[in-house]
Amino acid sequence: MVDKTDPVVKDDIEIGGTYMVRKADENWCLAEVIQKRLTEAGDKYEYYVHYENFNRRLDEWVLRDRIMHSGYDGNDHEIGQELGENSDRKITRNQKRKHDEINHVEKTFAEMDPTTAALEKEHETLTKVKYIDRVQVGRFEIDTWYFSPYPEEYGKCSKLWICEFCLKYTRLEKSYRYHQYECTQRQPNGKEIYRKGSISIYEVDGKDYKLYCQNLCLLAKLFLDHKTLYFDVEPFIFYILCEVDRYGAHIVGYFSKEKESPDGNNVACILTLPPYQRKGYGKLLIAFSYELSKQEQVTGSPEKPLSDLGKLSYRSYWSWVLLEILRDFRGTLSIKDLSNMTSITQNDIISTLQSLNLVKYWKGQHVICVTPKLIEEHLKSAEYKKPSLTVDISALKWTPPKKPNKKQKNFVSIH
Ligand code: ACO
Ligand code: ZN
Repeated sequence: MVDKTDPVVKDDIEIGGTYMVRKADENWCLAEVIQKRLTEAGDKYEYYVHYENFNRRLDEWVLRDRIMHSGYDGNDHEIGQELGENSDRKITRNQKRKHDEINHVEKTFAEMDPTTAALEKEHETLTKVKYIDRVQVGRFEIDTWYFSPYPEEYGKCSKLWICEFCLKYTRLEKSYRYHQYECTQRQPNGKEIYRKGSISIYEVDGKDYKLYCQNLCLLAKLFLDHKTLYFDVEPFIFYILCEVDRYGAHIVGYFSKEKESPDGNNVACILTLPPYQRKGYGKLLIAFSYELSKQEQVTGSPEKPLSDLGKLSYRSYWSWVLLEILRDFRGTLSIKDLSNMTSITQNDIISTLQSLNLVKYWKGQHVICVTPKLIEEHLKSAEYKKPSLTVDISALKWTPPKKPNKKQKNFVSIH
């Protein structure tokens, strides 16, 4: 039974309202309440909050005692008074944003009947909330960052159990244990195309292993905010990075790649699972994606938008690659030469050199502008970091997959 008079239990918080909430680091911050639910024990409410001006991966469920008591009685101005003058302005901005969002929704749903529109709106609200707080993947219990569209009956539990080899998910530890006993898989599906020491990379075609790749996408979405590929995996190839020991090949991270990318992308999504982050695996995956593009003799770029962590990792990789070449090269080099040598697109090269202040715009063209001293300074600076893990080309066993022959495809579909 919920005792609404208990200060921790009482439910005086409005969904959609903005309150001061205590973050995990003990600082108070303005936050929007997106959803509420009863705790698993069923005796208290908890609230899903989004902290203003912070990445959505910090969104979380909090108990009532972390929300500042506002004496809220249904009037917006009362919250404003509690928070002081400054926050009054913030709330107005927040209300405006919400108003804008609602307008957008109404435009999209304008032709629907009211019931469907209401259901659709509810769905939108649901996808803002990550119900799954934690996942167990092999020996790691991992806190999740974002919503992922696991099927309804799984999507509402706070913890999912995931087989680290076949990526099957279960709600109950019991079923997981039983699966561990039954499952014979000890490595990703597909073909091992790279092996160096204990690091191994598998190539998995979304068409050949649909369920495995869908399970991978659902898991990955828990850590990716702006990606929408979950079920349509057939047009993609997945490259799975593993650490191998005597128990099997344990998934560390992956990137996906469109079989044919009209935008010239060589990576669609890239992820290092949180327990393995900041150890160099991300840049290893990035380097690997460019090695594949080099073999294909094309340039490539990651799909936009990049996340904050994606930007940092790419920027760090591009800076290192370009500074290494510029340090060792004698003679003149154009941006096109650099692009041919690295498979990095000219645009990505220009933006990296611009951030390093190594390019000038001259007579309508970007010209590399370096002195040995400038390069040395960069090599000593903080933005230059030699990756701890690099790709050894001799360990790569791969030839570019054949592109589908369009004519032949038409021929088949007509008959
Ligand atoms: N804080 C600050 N800097 C960071 C952080 C962090 N938490 N994580 C990575 N970086 C930066 C650092 O500059 C680091 O280089 P350094 O260690 O030499 O300083 C660089 O990124 C790369 O570090 P790696 O250890 O090689 O990368 P990692 O294994 O952590 O993986 C990745 C990077 C894949 C972006 C990871 O953070 C991740 O999976 N994030 C969640 C998913 C995501 O955002 N993916 C990219 C989306 S964009 C797209 O898919 C195309
Ligand atoms: Zn399994």
